[in-house]
Amino acid sequence: MKKYKEVILELSKNCNLNCIMCGYGARFNRADKFMNYSLFDSVLKELNGDFEVLRLNGRGESTIHPEFVKFIRHAHELYPVGRIRLFSNMNYRNDEITRALSECLCETMISFDSVNKKNLECIREGTNYETVIHNIEQLCAGSKLTAIVFTLQPSNFYELFEVARFSYEHNCHFFCNAVRNMWMEEEFSKLVNANTNFLKDSYIEINKLFEGSRLTVHLPSQISGVTLSTSIAKPTCADLSHCPNVGKDICIYYDGTVTPCGMFNPYILGNLKEQSLYEILNGSQLSEFIKAQSKDPYCRNCQYICD
Ligand SMILES: C[S@@+](CC[C@H](N)C(=O)[O-])C[C@H]1O[C@@H](n2cnc3c(N)ncnc32)[C@H](O)[C@@H]1O
Ligand code: SF4
Repeated sequence: MKKYKEVILELSKNCNLNCIMCGYGARFNRADKFMNYSLFDSVLKELNGDFEVLRLNGRGESTIHPEFVKFIRHAHELYPVGRIRLFSNMNYRNDEITRALSECLCETMISFDSVNKKNLECIREGTNYETVIHNIEQLCAGSKLTAIVFTLQPSNFYELFEVARFSYEHNCHFFCNAVRNMWMEEEFSKLVNANTNFLKDSYIEINKLFEGSRLTVHLPSQISGVTLSTSIAKPTCADLSHCPNVGKDICIYYDGTVTPCGMFNPYILGNLKEQSLYEILNGSQLSEFIKAQSKDPYCRNCQYICD
């Protein structure tokens, strides 16, 4: 078994969009918020393939990294049998990127929040619906490793089934993620509370749609603290007393900062400018985090869907 379950390398903290639910986005762009090639290469070589999945995105949009194609092809050349994963908004105009995703067997998690042009362009401010659809259709025609990730929030709440159907029709696995942030929290919680039956019925309909196909569906068993326990739903980390990913995930930001979690828990383990990855992963910061993790306030509200 590989030592690490998922290693996250944040190629870009910069973004091309300003999505309404996201705390990152283009308004915070700065020329230096891209990972440089030498850091990328040295981390990959130090890891020596000891991971199940290499995820090439963090909090921004990796496809806007000027060397994105070079990075993903390098990772695939070094570890041709390793699984590469990427979350992307798919708003790029460069077919080379689609070719690289397909040829590097990238598990592409397509963030797509509405089938309605106006609504998608409102949620994902700065995106172009036609460009996104073009890229999804091109990628899905050449790859079976695609998933749609729907971020449920007030402005697309009643579209859950519609987006799941889009996912099914495009031969993509389906993940329902739920928004978490302070400025939508109250409105969102009220909406979830008032619509638990709607959500449960949607889960049943989605499950019926995907039944018997090769495609998987991931629906959270609780959203915003409201339990939706059905046999179809899967627990999130917040439901569990201990996170199953602790000590198995590593997240490395564009500037070399190392953190313990793919859901961007802000706890800092160290920085690769000061220590080697080996030193950081065997240091006291990680063992202290593991000891206190079950009480960590960020973890108590984690929406990671456990398999
Ligand atoms: C932060 S983005 C980074 C990768 C890429 N830019 C994208 O949009 O896929 C990763 C995922 O987080 C989701 N996301 C953004 N803001 C969120 C929030 N406040 N709560 C939960 N998920 C969020 C996005 O929809 C996306 O699926
Ligand atoms: S595209 Fe991704 S990182 Fe950029 S603003 Fe939207 S959700 Fe955030």
